[in-house]
Amino acid sequence: MNILLLGSGGREHAIAHKIAQSKQCGQLFIAPGNAGTAAVGENVALDTNDFAAVERFVISHRVEMVVVGPEAPLVAGIADYFAEQPSLRHVLVIGPRRQGAMLEGSKDYAKAFMQRHHIPTARYQTFTEATLAEGEAFLETLQAPYVLKADGLAAGKGVLIEPDLATAKAHLREMLSGHKFGDASASVVIEEFLSGIELSVFVLTDGSHYLLLPSAKDYKRIGEGDTGLNTGGMGSISPVPFADKAFMKKVEDRIVKPTVRGLRDEKIPYCGFIFIGLMNCNGDPYVIEYNVRMGDPETESVFPRIKSDVVELFENTARGNLDCCTLEIDSRTAACIMMVADGYPESYKKGDIIDLGTDDETLVFHCGTKRDGEGHLLTNGGRVICTTALANTLPEALLKSYNRSQTINWRGKYNRRDIGQDLLKLMQG
Ligand code: AMP
Ligand code: GLY
Repeated sequence: MNILLLGSGGREHAIAHKIAQSKQCGQLFIAPGNAGTAAVGENVALDTNDFAAVERFVISHRVEMVVVGPEAPLVAGIADYFAEQPSLRHVLVIGPRRQGAMLEGSKDYAKAFMQRHHIPTARYQTFTEATLAEGEAFLETLQAPYVLKADGLAAGKGVLIEPDLATAKAHLREMLSGHKFGDASASVVIEEFLSGIELSVFVLTDGSHYLLLPSAKDYKRIGEGDTGLNTGGMGSISPVPFADKAFMKKVEDRIVKPTVRGLRDEKIPYCGFIFIGLMNCNGDPYVIEYNVRMGDPETESVFPRIKSDVVELFENTARGNLDCCTLEIDSRTAACIMMVADGYPESYKKGDIIDLGTDDETLVFHCGTKRDGEGHLLTNGGRVICTTALANTLPEALLKSYNRSQTINWRGKYNRRDIGQDLLKLMQG
């Protein structure tokens, strides 16, 4: 079958790489894609938020499956659009409809959903400009640090962790008045700070049944030792060593099952990924956030470990038959090292020529890259390219991935050198 994958990052390159290996895959199109996806399929210059343009392409190219990478088209209702157009109803869409996508599109909606289904998460309340005084009073009942979250989508930047009460109050005021994150912070969720180690858990669900994909750990800060500004993610490791059988059973029983059951009971159709951001607080999992897509760069370490045919999995997801599927996972560890442009996550330059170095068995996923008219590979984003190596142990996977990443160069390339080191320390006890 012909498949259209929407998105342009490393996540999409990793998904495209797996889709292209499927026996079921006819032509694979990626919109808009990057220089890496162009090597496994055909890039198409489509605006993924222009649903009518996507529709025309799907019909003219006999696309039978659309896989949605990022959240924006989902929150904007692309899956609803496909379900509503008679000409598109036969197309299988991997990604939830607007209502399900609210789990990511509104923090308040997600928190209320968790509360209704008794899913462990930090204590919270939501405030608007009209209830600013109550918001300040609620902050006073909490202990430092204070967690403020813009309710709406804010490009991953809408969460503030404040060290003291005065700053928390000042920023709450700025958020609610629209000066900080615009409309996204017209409502603000204030919640208890959870202390522990974070990890990401991924679920593929058809709305009734689910498969648990491998866990992963992301490294969000730009600086080594988890310092400096937040980024989209500077590397990832899968599996997470502390997410052992006992911990994952708690995750499944307390979080995954009630989440899928809650969607079904509330008659929220959901076909796609649920990415659950978790905090491990002394061995107990708490939900920090839901996303309605795969993570980036978690996908770059999770997808290479999936041995099953992903198109078969997607097809059964879209048809509600996920109970017929099992998941075959590579038991090895995957280590992904992200390389970024100088200056990222603040302003950075694009258009530098990339030297791709020496090929070996390590996977190289493109994130922000493009080719110029002469075929030169150029930087085209903050996160530029990443390497993923698989090995029997975490130290070996890290060594291979770092070795490969060191052969890739452009002016101002930066990567963290400490990806996975925290996990190695934990494992050493
Ligand atoms: P989010 O966008 O909700 O994932 O939040 C961004 C980051 O803020 C998370 O990855 C956590 O590192 C941190 N964070 C969010 N909520 C909490 C919380 N309640 N306690 C501690 N850290 C949090
Ligand atoms: N790596 C975090 C995210 O994709 O949101």
